[in-house]
Amino acid sequence: MKIALFASGDGSNVQAVLDACQTGCMKAEPVLIVSDNPEAFVLTRAEKAGVPTFSARPKDLGGKEAFEREVLQTLRSYGAEWLVLAGYMRLLSPVLLVPFEKRIINIHPSLLPSFPGLDAVGQAFQAGVKITGVTIHFVDEGMDTGPIIEQEPVRIEKTDTYDTLSKKIKQIEHRLYPDVIRRVIEEE
Ligand code: GRF
Repeated sequence: MKIALFASGDGSNVQAVLDACQTGCMKAEPVLIVSDNPEAFVLTRAEKAGVPTFSARPKDLGGKEAFEREVLQTLRSYGAEWLVLAGYMRLLSPVLLVPFEKRIINIHPSLLPSFPGLDAVGQAFQAGVKITGVTIHFVDEGMDTGPIIEQEPVRIEKTDTYDTLSKKIKQIEHRLYPDVIRRVIEEE
């Protein structure tokens, strides 16, 4: 199964998926990495892994929909069948949602529907909840609203700081995302 990965920044989750593909523990072939930020570190990761990239600032291409139309063309030219979002900081428009219906997944660092949107770890920390976690879900037009595929909880201990909590959540994400992607793709 050919997958394309979307990220706007560091791309540590993209790396976890690339690593799982490389070690052969996932029957997925990463064919393209897409970023809306040409300076994102994820592009360096892509280069190291030898995966082609498409990156541009949407405003430089005439806006989000024009950007997505170019992305769509590129996805088609590489034969991408699934879209995997990992720290991609934009909502998708119907330009991509329609052709990839039920074939786009996202990871979010909270137990949705709690704390959608930006800085979910900070939101949970500030709210003083004792349990937060990670959610993997199908993507629809909303902000972190699509059907939930998998969740894993994390307890926030009294000794946790924003940084220790962020690290715990990232560790779970890096294990859980490749596992769930594999499961979803194999179930198809
Ligand atoms: C992750 O916490 C993910 O859940 C969220 O954005 C973050 C991306 O981190 N959607 P990274 O770029 O993969 O390190």
